[in-house]
Amino acid sequence: MTKYWINGDTAIEMNDAEDVNTVHFTVDDKDVLVSAGQTIYESLRHMDGIGNIPALCYNPAVRPYGACRLCTVEVSEDQGKSFKFVASCLYPAMNGQIIKTNTEKIRKLRKGIIEFLLARCPDVKVVQDLAKEYGVEKPRFALGENECILCGLCVRICQENMGKSAISLVNRGIYKEVAAPFYAYELGSECIGCGDCAYVCPTGAITMGPDGKPILPRVKIPHAEAEAMMSQEKLSS
Ligand code: SF4
Ligand code: FES
Repeated sequence: MTKYWINGDTAIEMNDAEDVNTVHFTVDDKDVLVSAGQTIYESLRHMDGIGNIPALCYNPAVRPYGACRLCTVEVSEDQGKSFKFVASCLYPAMNGQIIKTNTEKIRKLRKGIIEFLLARCPDVKVVQDLAKEYGVEKPRFALGENECILCGLCVRICQENMGKSAISLVNRGIYKEVAAPFYAYELGSECIGCGDCAYVCPTGAITMGPDGKPILPRVKIPHAEAEAMMSQEKLSS
């Protein structure tokens, strides 16, 4: 019998959910009814026994951003004739959807992302745990020994909750990192030392310093890459 899930936390009989604005869909072959106006991830994230969707850049305190793509699921909106990949933290739950949260294709996609994260952040516990869960043993490449997975949560909480822009994501590719304005590592007066950035960081990459301001993670470039850069500098000097 279809259940009605309240905020993905509690299930009650559908008949008891009369007059509630709901969305009815299928997820991993289970028929469910949830409150309308949620993304797929929001509606499923606490649902007992349904997919264990990894979502490293999601935090209910800020708007979803779609940085990590780990929460990708497959969705059909034509009665199962075709499926597409969507980031479940961004995509709205809608009537009639057929959602799959843990297919072979999804696991393969997540595995690739996790391999990349492990190559970048080999010592970060949440990444190691995911690697174990998805059977990623050793990445085929090294991207440094960073702690920051570039989820952007610290930047978003600063902007959205505090109305500040004390930090932002700068640079591209493997050089991308969190920095203060003018590419500084030390926070200026714009930072009020609320500590929200350290609080939401899923990896512990930001800590609070003795001056009450956050200490930002510094990008650590892999050895081979650093050597290549240095020899280029020598050639051009
Ligand atoms: S410092 Fe933490 S919260 Fe900020 S982008 Fe990196 S992992 Fe995310
Ligand atoms: S949690 Fe959805 S993209 Fe990261």
